[in-house]
Amino acid sequence: MSTDPVRVHYEAYPYPPRDPREERRRLVTGSPSRLAELNHYVFGGRLDLRRPFRALVAGGGTGDGTIMLAQQLADARAQHAEIVYLDLSATARKTAEARAAARGLASIRFVTGSLLELSSLGLGPFDYVDCCGVLHHLGDPAAGLAILRDALSPHGGIGLMLYGPLGRTGVYPAQEMLATLVGDADDPPARVALARRLLAQLPPTNWLRRNPFIADHLTQGDSGIYDVLLHARDRAFAVPEIAALIAGASLRLQSFVPAARYEPTHYLSDATLLKRLAGLSAIDRAAFAERLAGNMKSHVFYAVRATNATLPATADRLDAVPILCEFDGAAIARGTGPGGILTGDADGIKLRFPLPPLAAAMAGLIDGRRTLGDIHAALAAKSPTLKSAGFMEQFARLYAALNGLGKLFIAYPAAAAAG
Ligand SMILES: C[S@@+](CC[C@H](N)C(=O)[O-])C[C@H]1O[C@@H](n2cnc3c(N)ncnc32)[C@H](O)[C@@H]1O
Repeated sequence: MSTDPVRVHYEAYPYPPRDPREERRRLVTGSPSRLAELNHYVFGGRLDLRRPFRALVAGGGTGDGTIMLAQQLADARAQHAEIVYLDLSATARKTAEARAAARGLASIRFVTGSLLELSSLGLGPFDYVDCCGVLHHLGDPAAGLAILRDALSPHGGIGLMLYGPLGRTGVYPAQEMLATLVGDADDPPARVALARRLLAQLPPTNWLRRNPFIADHLTQGDSGIYDVLLHARDRAFAVPEIAALIAGASLRLQSFVPAARYEPTHYLSDATLLKRLAGLSAIDRAAFAERLAGNMKSHVFYAVRATNATLPATADRLDAVPILCEFDGAAIARGTGPGGILTGDADGIKLRFPLPPLAAAMAGLIDGRRTLGDIHAALAAKSPTLKSAGFMEQFARLYAALNGLGKLFIAYPAAAAAG
């Protein structure tokens, strides 16, 4: 029997709680590791899925990232793709395996073990590593990240999620109270029972009770209570700490996602303030946005080896193929208010994006196959005065809005095929 409290926790209460029967009616999706998103940020849109592609999901839990990526690779007919799922918890693995079986996904190899032992498991190298909500539970997150980096192929990259401190306001004092209340002899169910008693008595002034961004302890049953309130190792990372962690691992940050949340101009309109921010680096801007918004309970971001020259994809070429993610062209019309403003909800803050006149028409033509050149040609057939430069300028504005909200990515399949 393991004495590692984190292993004991996830054996007793795998997280997040999932029922494999639900696979019949929905695919759980999210960042990091949506296929179009990781292609955009890690591979510059040039991932060639006709070639072998190996991904590691480190700390795969009950399978959300693994199942999503395996399903999206299967949908993309990536016949040479393999995903390795790795987790400490055999209980969590059982759920993940049952979910894969329910979908008939055969590309996943399941391994029970610690990512800290990766080098001796002989599983790598990997083109892509997903590590979502795991590094902040390690005794030494920097050492864990270095191990994941060492498992990357030279052109590979990582998608990470780490907790953010401000959006988790109230969580750590609650964990400290429970550390006071819980005794060594209490087994996991006894701990959950104590947590429920405390939750029932939180005064209205308590910051956890007042924090609308943290709800898993209220909505995810015993697993949610354990994960939020009873974790033995749990810390949060502010943006500057993430920058230091990434640089310390000789990685380069490609982007936080959704990118718009990390840009102060989406929150501020005061010209004097904006002028003062104008010279800041991208990281300093992101740090400012985190402090300003106050609602970021986690940070999702992509990173590559510092020696890897690949930058995130850009939307400035006619051979770019735009891909909408969990968004359709009709949603543009629905979500656009008077004056052509698209609003996107960012955990309680409405981010506003002015859209160009052709936004709805352009979005309606995005099908994941057409290039910008194709879309321009289709629109120019109806409006012969629409020149390529004017089209690209309008597309750039649509892209800024939808990519900023994490809804639109770019692929260069032709370049990948040629490459
Ligand atoms: C909060 S859950 C996240 C699961 C999954 N990544 C997701 O986003 O749905 C954290 C998972 O990391 C696993 N874990 C923690 N430390 C680990 C380690 N050193 N090696 C492998 N897995 C680990 C736990 O067992 C647990 O399943």
